[in-house]
Amino acid sequence: MPIEHNYLPEQYEQTGKPKINHNYLVEQFADYAEIFKDIEQLVKKGDYTLGHSVDEFEENIKNLTGSSYAIGLGSGTDALFLSLKAAGIGPGAEVITTPYTFFATVGSIVSAGARPVFVDIRDDYNIDPDLIESAITDRTKAILPVHWSGRACEMDRIMAIADEHGLCVVEDTCHGINASYNGKALGTFGLTGCFSMHPLKNLNVWGDGGYLVTDSGETHEKLVLLRNHGLVNRDECAMFAYNSRLDSIQAIVANHLLKKIDHITDSRIANAALYDELLRAIPGITVPVRPENVKQVYHIYVIRAERRDALCEYLIANDIDAKIHYPIPMHLQPAAAEYGYSPGDLPLAEAVCDTVLSLPVHEFVTEEQVRYVAGKMGEFYARG
Ligand SMILES: Cc1ncc(COP(=O)(O)O)c(C=O)c1O
Repeated sequence: MPIEHNYLPEQYEQTGKPKINHNYLVEQFADYAEIFKDIEQLVKKGDYTLGHSVDEFEENIKNLTGSSYAIGLGSGTDALFLSLKAAGIGPGAEVITTPYTFFATVGSIVSAGARPVFVDIRDDYNIDPDLIESAITDRTKAILPVHWSGRACEMDRIMAIADEHGLCVVEDTCHGINASYNGKALGTFGLTGCFSMHPLKNLNVWGDGGYLVTDSGETHEKLVLLRNHGLVNRDECAMFAYNSRLDSIQAIVANHLLKKIDHITDSRIANAALYDELLRAIPGITVPVRPENVKQVYHIYVIRAERRDALCEYLIANDIDAKIHYPIPMHLQPAAAEYGYSPGDLPLAEAVCDTVLSLPVHEFVTEEQVRYVAGKMGEFYARG
């Protein structure tokens, strides 16, 4: 397979086209001068690794989630991988997860040395709790649910299954900052909740960054060691480990943006509610049901559409940055060949990958733009 070199920067380049964009990073950091002031202080103190800004960030995250501990890390992927390591999951273990996710979910399981076992999803795009038990074997050690697009998985069911079978739960909450289930923050149900601050996430920094939350003192202690070479002090190492410290400059960026997290969340929720209302009226579009006990934060706004590819092209031709997250489920990726799955094995995930479409939903999308997008979608189906 030819490998595309550095394909991501294209996604960030703002060319002014299309006009209604998924990318809003220039607007998001229009007040960068304020962040520069804090970075200046850091440079004056030489406080480059961990230190004050990371401590402050971890306090902020504990306050936001209500969890006992928060740990700043290099990325969301590291949060998942190191959580599995801390839980003692490695070669010989199976980890149950969803086939409808981003590659990093599965990558973290495989990097830990374990085998991913895929369970089909429901029409809310999340792992189907009814199908989990039949996938449990005597090698199963963990369940790794993904709260896709910042919508909670059914955590009371998943935790009950995990408790009954003695399994650990690591939550992939990379899309789910500020989201909740039955009023409790996502990420606080399992042993750990793992978050990403990649530039395309709701809370985004100037490169890579991530963190996890946990209520377990023992797990916190292990993870503090795992992220920093296993060092208990400058000269003593309790375990040979990794370097996955949240960069201090990225912690400054995150602390700045955390002040706006409620506005970011509320704007996305408002845009999604208007999309829901307008799109439910269009035959050809399926909008998921939105249960009252789930606070969904819409990292992406995802619906299913008949003649999806033609609709996507039509929207792009009309200056709307429609995207497909993602066209190929994990079990059918070339990287999963060794696990022996075939087309048809996980039918809903496959059908969802064939029909999903994401629309720009972030805080800089205006009500007028949402109406324009919905209008163009109605127009597409009316034309037949
Ligand atoms: C569902 C999911 N899990 C994990 C990750 C990994 O996060 P990061 O890019 O910070 O490593 C992502 C990020 O893109 C994601 O979308």
